[in-house]
Amino acid sequence: MVSRAAGGKIELPWSMDAIRYGEIARDAVEDDTLLFQIVASASFIEITSDLYTENLIEYFRDDPELVDWLAHHWEPEELQHGAALKRYVEVAWPDFDWRRAYTGFFAEYSRCCLLENLAPTRALEMVARCVVETGTASFYRMLAEAAPEPVLRQVASNIAADEVRHYKNFFYFFRRYRATEHPGRAAVLKTLWDRAQEVDAEDAYIAFKHVFCVSNPGAEFEPAEYEVFRNGIRRLGREHFPYGMAMKMFLKPLDLAPVIGRVVLPSATAASRFLMLR
Ligand SMILES: [Fe+2]
Ligand SMILES: [Fe+2]
Repeated sequence: MVSRAAGGKIELPWSMDAIRYGEIARDAVEDDTLLFQIVASASFIEITSDLYTENLIEYFRDDPELVDWLAHHWEPEELQHGAALKRYVEVAWPDFDWRRAYTGFFAEYSRCCLLENLAPTRALEMVARCVVETGTASFYRMLAEAAPEPVLRQVASNIAADEVRHYKNFFYFFRRYRATEHPGRAAVLKTLWDRAQEVDAEDAYIAFKHVFCVSNPGAEFEPAEYEVFRNGIRRLGREHFPYGMAMKMFLKPLDLAPVIGRVVLPSATAASRFLMLR
């Protein structure tokens, strides 16, 4: 599953150098506060990905195939997501001081949120990763659908494709560990549920707060501002969130018989708000 270019250089599936940032239709986005807040917040979270990778690599240190994929594909791809979104913000909303806001985000985030709770077994940790990638894949699919201009659509769909691939890789490793660890369906379901509750909750709040404070100098940040932001995302989600895709990805580790899956899917779809709309 691992592909390297000659000379050991890591080959990313796409390059941000090929994105035509100079062609961003700025008038289509410059007054869109919600879009700005979404893209800027996402850039903070993605660009900080290397901080999470370390724990995970340590946890799986005697699994060279997984460690190699994490270190040489997953992490560089996540970092490119951050860099590509950052550049978009800098071109589309040049008055925003990205660096200053990110410095504030990083200082607060690294104080409180770096210790991730890893799941009790390797198979279950892979389930948890599948949930995270389900959340990001559907989020960027939504953003690509909702984007009012083609360059953002391109960036978001490139990222969404990466996140789907990350999901598939984590799912592959899940199946591998499942074959030896035999986690029960109840344990898988509990992991799905627990992780879905916490996906990005803390990161998104802190990222938004620093985006808000730097783009509204002098304004006091109130948690209600975050509510407004979330309501905006809910509105976008009603029209553009790929609920069907999200639910299929979310439920897949349960390995339900197709007939049960069909029964579970509609109620799970209704419950899927938690994937991004907590
Ligand atoms: Fe990502
Ligand atoms: Fe990812």
